[in-house]
Amino acid sequence: MDIKPILFCVLVCFCVVQPQDPRFTLKQVVILSRHGLRTPLSKYLSEMTPKAWPSWKEKPGYLTAKGKVLEGYMGKFFSAWLSQKGLLPKTCPSEENFYVYANTKQRTLASALAFVGKAFPKCNITIHHSNSDVDPIFNPVIHNSSAIFREIVIEDMQEQLKALSLNASYKDLDMILDFKNSEICKNDHKCNLATDKNKAYVMSGEKPNLNGPLKIANSVVDAFVMQYYEGFPLNNVAWGHLETQEEWQTLMCLSRSYHNIIFNTSLVAKDIAQPLIKFMTNIFLNDSVPKISLLMGHDANMYTVLNSLNFKPYMLENQYELSPVSGKIVFQKWYDNVKKVELLRIHFVYQSYTQLRDCLELSLENPPQFRLLELNECTVDKNGFCLWSDFVEILQRLETDV
Ligand SMILES: *[C@@H]1O[C@H](CO)[C@@H](O)[C@H](O)[C@H]1NC(C)=O
Ligand SMILES: *[C@@H]1O[C@H](CO)[C@@H](O)[C@H](O)[C@H]1NC(C)=O
Ligand SMILES: *[C@@H]1O[C@H](CO)[C@@H](O)[C@H](O)[C@H]1NC(C)=O
Ligand SMILES: *[C@@H]1O[C@H](CO)[C@@H](O)[C@H](O)[C@H]1NC(C)=O
Ligand SMILES: *[C@@H]1O[C@H](CO)[C@@H](O)[C@H](O)[C@H]1NC(C)=O
Repeated sequence: MDIKPILFCVLVCFCVVQPQDPRFTLKQVVILSRHGLRTPLSKYLSEMTPKAWPSWKEKPGYLTAKGKVLEGYMGKFFSAWLSQKGLLPKTCPSEENFYVYANTKQRTLASALAFVGKAFPKCNITIHHSNSDVDPIFNPVIHNSSAIFREIVIEDMQEQLKALSLNASYKDLDMILDFKNSEICKNDHKCNLATDKNKAYVMSGEKPNLNGPLKIANSVVDAFVMQYYEGFPLNNVAWGHLETQEEWQTLMCLSRSYHNIIFNTSLVAKDIAQPLIKFMTNIFLNDSVPKISLLMGHDANMYTVLNSLNFKPYMLENQYELSPVSGKIVFQKWYDNVKKVELLRIHFVYQSYTQLRDCLELSLENPPQFRLLELNECTVDKNGFCLWSDFVEILQRLETDV
């Protein structure tokens, strides 16, 4: 008599905490990740302002100690999430379950290590990487060496540069940097960010690049963003000049435009991303292994893959960047047990600026941000699923295209 309610509760509770909708089964996941929080990259920051930059403990371009912690939070979250979805064994995963491939740079290797260190703390997971200095799969360089390609791309970039309207952003940046008193202004006599010329560079074997104020702006804004995430006191983030959302947004237009110009045209993106897409296609089209793959690269990889696969534009809530540090494009292959059909769902999984700056631990109860991403050529239903077979077609078309 007394046992029934208890049993009833046990059953109900079991069903309630069982988050799985039995109709859909997660079969495979490919995670394309940007490395974690790093120190600023540019060697020339000190020439861009007379002001002193706050110093960092780590070398330029290295994952920071906090970046390791933040990426570890992601690792711990993903292992909980993927276990909940039934994709991970209770024991240490084998390479058929979980495969990690990272670019050869310190920040990508260290990020991958931080992820698996917290995802599988007692396991010995190998971080696979190329043995050469530069891994062609992640290296965001132009491959096409024809003159015509170069001409088209440079013309495209110049057109885009002309169409920019960044006066308000440059005005703020000029004020923050006191650019008129910078070494660049004194030595090169380039003192007006809004009117100085940008020049586009496109060379086979190299990253597409710009020279001029937009490049300067991107380096500086990147440094501010990293200062903010790292948790520098606000008077040390852009020397206290970034207080409101509007001020951030105005400055972020600069780095967004920079990335748009160098990575976000179809011709360039497809050329650059081709080796990585090929690598990913091999995983997607191979049912057997591995069930989960983590590919640790750079924002350049994210941008060019997004463009190549023809994603719809998206915004990330509670983020200033379109591809934040430790952010992940998570491709999920699902099986619909009712309709007996394979499905695709894609999320951008990332930490909000607050989760990054305040170093907030993640869990199933306090997850990172999930933003559904959509492909133009794979129509999603109300659950965010589109047909896996449509996705396969996109991948196959890309393989024959380039
Ligand atoms: C971890 O794995 C590597 C390669 O599989 C092996 O060489 C190494 O001995 C292992 N370490 C431990 C502590 O098991
Ligand atoms: C290089 O680009 C040109 C112009 O888009 C294209 O016609 C050609 O097929 C490309 N070559 C290779 C090897 O991809
Ligand atoms: C931007 O500023 C430059 C230089 O001050 C000026 O020549 C140009 O007309 C401005 N553009 C717009 C759209 O206001
Ligand atoms: C699938 O992966 C296995 C193991 O890596 C490999 O032997 C096989 O050739 C792959 N199949 C395809 C179609 O790529
Ligand atoms: C790439 O360009 C498209 C179309 O111009 C734009 O909507 C999208 O936001 C851009 N993507 C990125 C990552 O900047």
